[in-house]
Amino acid sequence: MLSEKLLGKLNEQITHEFYSAHYYLAMAAYFTKEDLDGFANFFLVQAEEERFHAMKFFNFINDQGQEAIITGFKDPKRDFKSAEEIFTLALEHEKLVSSLINDLMALAQEEKHYPSISFLQWFIDEQVEEEANMNKLLSKVQRVGEKGHGILMLDRELSERSFTPDAE
Ligand code: FEO
Repeated sequence: MLSEKLLGKLNEQITHEFYSAHYYLAMAAYFTKEDLDGFANFFLVQAEEERFHAMKFFNFINDQGQEAIITGFKDPKRDFKSAEEIFTLALEHEKLVSSLINDLMALAQEEKHYPSISFLQWFIDEQVEEEANMNKLLSKVQRVGEKGHGILMLDRELSERSFTPDAE
């Protein structure tokens, strides 16, 4: 049985994950407008991953015999100016999500709720990867610049990304 406090925080994380999906969808829309379809694909896949994360929390709460609460959220930003700005914001966002997951883990440990500790460990590991991916892409975008051959090469590379939940 989850305590009211832990249940509340796990429920909030459903919203954070769905918000992340929305945020990345807004980034995909920017890149589509800019005809950078590979970058758009990267963020479309990222949005799918975030929905997958949200559903993991939803299912975990259900499996604990408690009710998942679905709430709304604010509009995501949409007036993006560049690829560099987007990867800077995406990295910042993943760092925020990591801190939320860390806080959840700290609470689960404080309450000695072992099923939650086990469940959250997947997210702790996932966040290391999420931050590393955004960091690496930010560096690459900074290296190649916003115009020219480099950005098109990177666009082609990012068009290959696909969503594979089994490999998560
Ligand atoms: Fe759900 Fe990108 O972390």
